[in-house]
Amino acid sequence: MTTTINPADLQPNEFYRYVIGSIAPRPIAFASTIDAAGNVNLSPFSFFNVFGYNPHTLVFSPSINRHGHKKHTLLNLEEVGEVVINVVNYAMVEQMSLTSAEFERGVNEFEKSGFTALPSERVRPPRVAESPATYECMVRQIIPTGASTSGNKPGAGTLVICDVVLAHFHQNIFDTNGVIDPHKIDLIGRMGGDWYSRTSGDAAFQVARPQAGIGVDKIPHSIRNSVILSGNDLGKLGSFPVLPTADETAEFRQSGILNELFDEAQYGCQYLPDLLHLRAKQYLAENRVREAWLTLLQTQV
Ligand SMILES: Cc1cc2nc3c(=O)[nH]c(=O)nc-3n(C[C@H](O)[C@H](O)[C@H](O)COP(=O)(O)O)c2cc1C
Repeated sequence: MTTTINPADLQPNEFYRYVIGSIAPRPIAFASTIDAAGNVNLSPFSFFNVFGYNPHTLVFSPSINRHGHKKHTLLNLEEVGEVVINVVNYAMVEQMSLTSAEFERGVNEFEKSGFTALPSERVRPPRVAESPATYECMVRQIIPTGASTSGNKPGAGTLVICDVVLAHFHQNIFDTNGVIDPHKIDLIGRMGGDWYSRTSGDAAFQVARPQAGIGVDKIPHSIRNSVILSGNDLGKLGSFPVLPTADETAEFRQSGILNELFDEAQYGCQYLPDLLHLRAKQYLAENRVREAWLTLLQTQV
């Protein structure tokens, strides 16, 4: 069963609930800006992502607020086209949330939230000392997505396209190979309603980079339609570059590694393809895709 919705049939704020609940988790740009008089502002934006890395391009979007007004961040950027985008980790979530309250223009949310402002090197707005990764950016372009002659429409976005000019990283977020470790950086994401996600611990997992494999379309039907193998299992099988040959499959059988399954099928009246699919599933869980294929192909020879 599927619910199909034409956004034109709902109020923008009604359809928005579906969007923010389903396009998630979203990273959070904790944006530090400054107005022409030097007043500092700090606010979170989860309409945010990386859009290129040559040049390094970050984009976030302050929406027109429910009163039809531009947010202070955007007003500041129109005066001073410089911003620090600070990432947000779990340790920062409550203070970050506090900065999103509707404070008067000119109120410094560093002070309201208790975050520590560190001077930036290449831009005027300060950066957040507690943030594990901070990006000093020059604003390249500001593009309103809902421009209208009748004024600003609440909810209309404004793409703020930023070039990264300098970045700072806490040293304790790296693993021994110098790669950022998701468990150490412990980032959070914004979801629908009041929900956030935390991207460390069991929530973080790895997926091996695929090769241009055989594709799920080339998996024999009896394997592809297995009730035991999941879509993720099929994805791993489809990423495998070349199917093992009949000789390799026979050799695997002769190695004796599957003997107990064949015995169980013969003497325990079990259905052999199910036993082989279950064993293949175990191999796939351990990313032993070749062995999974060699197991599955036993019924094909
Ligand atoms: C986690 C989080 C993400 C948010 N993302 C956005 C967003 O992408 N766009 C937006 O306009 N407001 C977003 N908000 C709301 C703004 O942070 C809020 O309107 C804030 O008061 C704007 O501050 P300013 O007027 O000082 O710029 C978000 C709030 C939170 C807590």
